[in-house]
Amino acid sequence: MASVEKVGNIEPMPKIYPIGGGKGGVGKSFVAASLGALLARHGRTVALIDLDLGASNLHTFLGMPAPKDGLNRFLNKHAQTLDSTAAPTPVTNLFLISSSTCSMEIANLFYAQKIKLINAIKKLPFDYVLIDLGAGTNFNTLDFFLTSNKGVFVCTPEPTSIENTFRFIKAVYLRKIKQLIKRHDFDAQAKAAVLDTASNALTSRDIMDIVATYDPEKERFFKACIGRFQFKLILNQFRKNADAGLGKKIETVCNRHFYSPFEFLGGVAFDERVIDSIYAKKLYVKNYPATASTMELEQIAELLANGQPASSLLQPAL
Ligand SMILES: Nc1ncnc2c1ncn2[C@@H]1O[C@H](COP(=O)(O)OP(=O)(O)OP(=O)(O)O)[C@@H](O)[C@H]1O
Ligand SMILES: [Mg+2]
Repeated sequence: MASVEKVGNIEPMPKIYPIGGGKGGVGKSFVAASLGALLARHGRTVALIDLDLGASNLHTFLGMPAPKDGLNRFLNKHAQTLDSTAAPTPVTNLFLISSSTCSMEIANLFYAQKIKLINAIKKLPFDYVLIDLGAGTNFNTLDFFLTSNKGVFVCTPEPTSIENTFRFIKAVYLRKIKQLIKRHDFDAQAKAAVLDTASNALTSRDIMDIVATYDPEKERFFKACIGRFQFKLILNQFRKNADAGLGKKIETVCNRHFYSPFEFLGGVAFDERVIDSIYAKKLYVKNYPATASTMELEQIAELLANGQPASSLLQPAL
């Protein structure tokens, strides 16, 4: 399996990008597969993990049949390590940990299995790990999204999709704050009151307000913890003229209303050939290397890899 060089005694961590966004069918799997392939081009090892448990289809976007084994072997203890369940894909350096062979009950993962999986993901010996998540805001999805502080939200310019993305973001904050409250020392009475409020609170600000009334120092600490998120946003199925400026607007609103920095990574144009590629069982960015959508995805991959857009240098072919 792929290995990443160790520096001294320090075990290098993969850069983990969970890809979520609340609404179904917005393009999370398409974006995950495309970015995985583009990140793998520079000799970096990439693991894609299909954690849309019960509805996995990432292999189809990669243009490959469902692997015969995958996550099921790790969860049922037939594989010792998670990386040994990664299957090669048609792209060099890109591997897929699929959940397509898991039982139909996989969507209701046990708590202990979830913790084991999250811990294993954090230690995967790859340069990049991209996690494809399902729709909705169930606890498993939120906890997988919280595997790293570099969560990527994918939405389309449709108002319903933007609305669901905001709900998803709020749910992520609520989940994280509740975890912090549970894990940190608090006066028992205050903790009970805060958790009670948290269960009914609509926003993370409501919870912070009540934390502040009991313990202002804790409020500062919690704010610092959630301030470490570096959330990112991709607008998929973008129509250049109609949707210009929308991504930056959402970025501004998020930066104003939430506690941590948001970065709009870019738009990915709507292209009928994405659907054609799925029918043809081919990876879009490989099948269509020169379309506007592929170039936009390249810019986004470059931002994730280097923190800046691609230079004018030619990118290696897939
Ligand atoms: N940029 C695009 N242009 C055209 N079609 C697209 C684009 N992105 C995604 N699609 C199409 O939208 C559909 C849904 O995409 P995808 O399965 O990636 O969404 P999803 O968010 O992962 O959905 P789910 O929540 O069900 O997992 C697919 O049929 C795909 O072909
Ligand atoms: Mg999907």
